[in-house]
Amino acid sequence: MNNQWIDSQSPEDKQLQASLLEAGTLPRHIAIIMDGNGRWAMDRNLPRAAGHQQGIESVRDIVKACSQLNIGFLTVYAFSMENWKRPRMEVQILMSLLKTYLLQEIDELDANNVRLHAIGKLNALPKNVQNILNEAIERTSKNTGLTLTLALSYSGRWDIVRAVQMIALDIRRGTLSPEDITDEQFSKYLLTESMPDPDLMIRTSGEMRLSNFLLWESAYSEMYITKQLWPDFRREDLYCALKDFLNRERRFGKTGQQLRESDEKENQQGSLRRIISSFSSR
Ligand code: IPE
Ligand code: IPE
Ligand code: MG
Repeated sequence: MNNQWIDSQSPEDKQLQASLLEAGTLPRHIAIIMDGNGRWAMDRNLPRAAGHQQGIESVRDIVKACSQLNIGFLTVYAFSMENWKRPRMEVQILMSLLKTYLLQEIDELDANNVRLHAIGKLNALPKNVQNILNEAIERTSKNTGLTLTLALSYSGRWDIVRAVQMIALDIRRGTLSPEDITDEQFSKYLLTESMPDPDLMIRTSGEMRLSNFLLWESAYSEMYITKQLWPDFRREDLYCALKDFLNRERRFGKTGQQLRESDEKENQQGSLRRIISSFSSR
């Protein structure tokens, strides 16, 4: 598959990425709350729209870097359900920027094997945005590289309530019984059903909250909050977040000692398997 993004990379950047890839297992799924566009613009005495516009440059760079690093899933919070309450003018500008982004980027995303996906109450978006979005999703649906998910008119609580409603309908129809509702089963009713939970959740602009993003899915996500405003956040900042992630100990409720013991056991089993396979191939 043609991947212009890898060909166009500078040797220094390739080196930085190679060192991250060697350092450990990178997240399979990165989720980002792209916040601080308005403040970025205000700091420069510019209209808020200028911050949103500049934020698109950050999206471009981060998508490229994730694809080059072979990250499986990148989910970006672009517009929350609560953001509909913003002044009408700002909402209009955001919708028109979204449209421009999709139209301008789709060829490049497609050429680089990116699969576009969207979560949220998509039928609340203006009809023309819905059409362009659906076309872009359809066009990239066979791609096998990075899955880029745009969270649009998204709310974590709304998705959970929606799942509960569908579960109730299935119970009424008799295709599901209450005893069968497990953690895993519940996840299948969410819009994020086809992706793993985010391993790393980044929020820019220093705000220490989830703002209704991936509430169910972020149960064990590693949080990385930076004061940097989204329009200033570029690949070097992503590399910092990834370095930080690589140094975290993800315990999932266990003790650190238990994790080290199970690592040791896995290493031993791995060496045993290698010895056995070297004998059987003789
Ligand atoms: C994030 O930036 C973009 C959206 C929510 C659409 P903001 O517009 O929230 O920027 P701040 O938080 O006001 O600086
Ligand atoms: C969260 O940012 C939504 C997006 C980044 C799209 P907000 O700026 O809307 O969040 P709050 O209002 O500060 O919590
Ligand atoms: Mg904000």
